[in-house]
Amino acid sequence: MRNKYYLILLVLAGNLFIAVNVKGQAEKIDNTPNANGMVVCAYPDAAQAGLAILKKGGNAVDAAVAVQFALAVTFPEAGNIGGGGFMVYRSTKGETNTLDFREKAPSGASANMYLDASGNVIPGMSLSTHQASGVPGSVDGLYEANRKYGKLKWAELVQPSIDLARNGYKLTKRQADVYNRIQNTLKKANPGKSYLIKDSPWKEGDLLVQEDLAKTLEQIRDKGRKGFYEGVVADEIVAEMKSGNGLITKADLKNYHSVWRKAITGNYKDYKVITMPPPSSGGIALLSLLKSVEKYPLHQWGHNQDSTVQLIIEAERRVYADRSKYLGDPDFFKVPVDSLLRTSYILSRMNSFTWSAATPSTSIQPGTIPGYESDQTTHYSITDREGNAVSITTTLNGSFGSKIFVKGAGFLLNNEMDDFSSKPGVPNMYGLVGGKANSIQPNKRMLSSMTPAIIEKNGKLFMVVGTPGGATIITSVFQTILNVIEFDQNMQQSVSSKRFHHQWLPDNVQVERGAFDEKTQTILEQKGYKLISSGGIGRVDAILKTPLGYEGGADPRGDDTKAGW
Ligand code: GLY
Repeated sequence: MRNKYYLILLVLAGNLFIAVNVKGQAEKIDNTPNANGMVVCAYPDAAQAGLAILKKGGNAVDAAVAVQFALAVTFPEAGNIGGGGFMVYRSTKGETNTLDFREKAPSGASANMYLDASGNVIPGMSLSTHQASGVPGSVDGLYEANRKYGKLKWAELVQPSIDLARNGYKLTKRQADVYNRIQNTLKKANPGKSYLIKDSPWKEGDLLVQEDLAKTLEQIRDKGRKGFYEGVVADEIVAEMKSGNGLITKADLKNYHSVWRKAITGNYKDYKVITMPPPSSGGIALLSLLKSVEKYPLHQWGHNQDSTVQLIIEAERRVYADRSKYLGDPDFFKVPVDSLLRTSYILSRMNSFTWSAATPSTSIQPGTIPGYESDQTTHYSITDREGNAVSITTTLNGSFGSKIFVKGAGFLLNNEMDDFSSKPGVPNMYGLVGGKANSIQPNKRMLSSMTPAIIEKNGKLFMVVGTPGGATIITSVFQTILNVIEFDQNMQQSVSSKRFHHQWLPDNVQVERGAFDEKTQTILEQKGYKLISSGGIGRVDAILKTPLGYEGGADPRGDDTKAGW
């Protein structure tokens, strides 16, 4: 996707910036902190829905419920009730927790379900068929979060999304373009259905009304999790599955439950990073990356300068190699979390790094752990008046998931099954490879890169951060954190800054256009780094706690919006 802004041109007094957008026009960006709370998410109406809940006295978790449902209406590419996600939570008192509402493989799934008779992966089967969907987790996750931490009533939090679906919302230019591009795919995937499909092209300002989705949301409003996992909506999901040989059954839906998991934490200098344990690979990878670069003088080298970039790429190469072997659903596979996060292990992985040349990925294998047997997701960050914070990343996997709508219910199904390793060593849609740890098993959760994170400084809330972007999620979160801590950028600058990405295999580096100056580019290429020009990497939505209040960073690569008070 093209970036909305080319660059930040000028920093005006303190909190105001001038940036140049793709049309070459100067735009003013306001970075004024807000004392009472902040919502940063992918879509303006969803941000407003969350803000309204905060203003009513709801806490960050209440606002998160409203935002998730509002995104399911206004951002169907990734906002969802048919997908899953992760939440990292930190209370104002410093209590932390995480909620895993990742999808699960249906009970009828099996290790070789995407292979043909010769043992080859059948192209597209894990992506764009009824069998690509895992059992959705989002509704259960939000219900659980509200039950444990919410202040306001569930129905009050779901209602704004019903209003948006029934009364309609106005498309932005970006949204109209996205819907127009996907028309043919949606028509093919949904014979006899009309969702998002229109005879004439969508235009900016068009009103999108979704009556079926409004009815589904009413079921959820009135019956809680049962409004989705049982009753009429469950019947519609199972009927949709039957129409295309899908695997999700009534029992799969009824038996789905999200899981509270202890957050994993690690230190980087004076900062404590609180993030998601497996089945996220992102938390472990983020902590490992930070530890790998901690002892180097990044601040002195500078943002996106050759030494900084080289070190970051080499750390990423080693961490992603480990991801391929050791990470999977901890309920099914013994993930060696402590060993992977041991400082001595992480530092030993960097021993083979030399400044003179790129380490070829062929010479890097996953490390040996002693005693060990062997564009689309969306993120939102929210803080409230009391100082509670949530960091939530949620996904259908690919943009618009499987592209298949549940007939009568008006929502899209995920294609999260592609996040499993269909066959050892064969890359998924993000180019990620895996093996036994992430093989398909009934009721297992597929490995994820989603990396919602909350950071403390000296025991106090400092940052809330996360992003979509498949495999690039981890590296985008990593670089956003470094931008603030090492390169003195404020939250908005840090989010807007150009990014790059490396993931061990394939052995190249994706670089956002304009990320490196010519000298940096030349030095890296001379050392053997294969740089590939890329459009926008990630869409980070983040909040920084400053002495003046909450400072939002909404990614200019999309329609992302910060709303504070
Ligand atoms: N579906 C992208 C992820 O979970 O990593």
